[in-house]
Amino acid sequence: MKDVTFNGLTFELYITHDEINKQIQRLAGEIKHNCEVSGDDAPLFICVLTGAFVFAADLFRACDIHNAEIAFIRFKSYEGTSSTGVVNDIMGLAEDVTGRSVFIIEDIVDTGITAYQLRETLAKKNPKSVKMVTLLFKPDSLKVGPKPEFVGFEIPPRFILGYGLDLDGLARQLPDIYVLKPTQEEQ
Ligand code: IMP
Ligand code: MG
Repeated sequence: MKDVTFNGLTFELYITHDEINKQIQRLAGEIKHNCEVSGDDAPLFICVLTGAFVFAADLFRACDIHNAEIAFIRFKSYEGTSSTGVVNDIMGLAEDVTGRSVFIIEDIVDTGITAYQLRETLAKKNPKSVKMVTLLFKPDSLKVGPKPEFVGFEIPPRFILGYGLDLDGLARQLPDIYVLKPTQEEQ
């Protein structure tokens, strides 16, 4: 597989689209089951823009829950290849979450700051429950909040892109996920 280069940084293939699809099918099964046992027939999925939009589209269809809805919210805490630690730019949520089961859809949970802030914000709106679904989770980077309830892949704290994840807005269109190659000194 060919390496890809963005902004002068080189990335190698890390997770193929096939592997992603398998985890999406598994997660969809778990979410459906979770809704069935708790009697939730109208869950609200909240996709955290921008990175999660590709995953959310695939996951929402894979879940195929008749009365489910999806909404979009924007938080931002990343610049370049590391978290700024400050969550800014919060785009409001029009949907009523009162008494509803909410599934937050994230591309990746890194420091957990975005996830924590979102849980706190949503908890004030009196939902029945708030659960986090993330395609990727870097457990070694987690600083705040609980482990996400639904995780596609646990990965080491390396910078990745593709399948919606970006480097300063680039590489979201790649169907597979790539990881930053170590430099000669790091090897
Ligand atoms: P957190 O608030 O530190 O958990 O970061 C969450 C957000 O940072 C994610 O939703 C991503 O948009 C971004 N992010 C974290 N790690 C990566 C990465 O390896 N590649 C691209 N974006 C990342
Ligand atoms: Mg994100």
